[in-house]
Amino acid sequence: MSERKPGRILLSVQGFEPKKWQDLLSAGHEVVLSPGGEADAIDYAVVWKHEHGLLAKLPGLKAIFSIGAGVDHVLSDPDLPDVPVVRVVASNLTQHMVDYVVWRVTDHHRQGIFYRSEQARGNWRDRTQPPSPDVSVGILGLGELGRAAAKALIAIGYDVKGWTRTPRTVDGVETFSGDEGLTPFLNATDILVVLLPHTPATEGIVDYELLSRLRRDNGLGGACLINAGRGKLQKEADILRALDDGTLKEASLDVFETEPLPRLSPLWSHPRVFVTPHAAATSDATHLVPLMLEQMARLERGEPLQNVVDRAAGY
Ligand code: GLV
Repeated sequence: MSERKPGRILLSVQGFEPKKWQDLLSAGHEVVLSPGGEADAIDYAVVWKHEHGLLAKLPGLKAIFSIGAGVDHVLSDPDLPDVPVVRVVASNLTQHMVDYVVWRVTDHHRQGIFYRSEQARGNWRDRTQPPSPDVSVGILGLGELGRAAAKALIAIGYDVKGWTRTPRTVDGVETFSGDEGLTPFLNATDILVVLLPHTPATEGIVDYELLSRLRRDNGLGGACLINAGRGKLQKEADILRALDDGTLKEASLDVFETEPLPRLSPLWSHPRVFVTPHAAATSDATHLVPLMLEQMARLERGEPLQNVVDRAAGY
């Protein structure tokens, strides 16, 4: 067995090329893509959809770092070892999400889907566009991303509301919480933005019944849905039903129950659905790796880790 080398990182990812992450993490650390015969010499794991059971085989593991704001892909491992799981909180990732939410909210508000289809037909036809203070944007989930999106939407004039599982106050946002707060929140929301984490408690929360409680008698001509959280929060058959019977006017979906979105999904070609390929806030190694390295350095200095996930809550 080789001599134990502190700071060795296991980089375990699926779905993208790990080279850039590996190169950047290598600054001062040895990085391996599989534990090989030296499982006991791994100190840290940096993961995106790692193979379940893999981390349980690393007896010297000190912390797990999620590539990405969501940690459902880590916590879904039934054999996850009992070491801290660290979520990424990066201004670059947050800003990307804010950009996406502002883009989709303003597009639904200013009737982008309608005008693009009228342009394609050469139709000069106006449609009501109330000013932003008359449009209520309800954010489901006021974590790092939800709060940052709320702040940006308030700055451009929207009436912003927010819902959280447990009570929370956020400047300038009318907040609602718990089961009893969900109906009044939805009843007052024209454009729903979903930024919840995926946990057993939130799975499938965006269903027909929830969508039917949104405000439809608004100046936009119906309720709109934006999901940039996780696909497993939504029931796509229910979204399609709601779109087709007028419960929902339009939707912008960045995440899906199955990703990549299957080629035969009717969402691809629905005229009132805007699809992006889980691209709202992509994790960028250049911005995220220095934050991970800093956290490892904190641990080596005996300082507490930041942004540690609450495993019981699931985020
Ligand atoms: C992306 O989906 C993330 O969790 O950051």
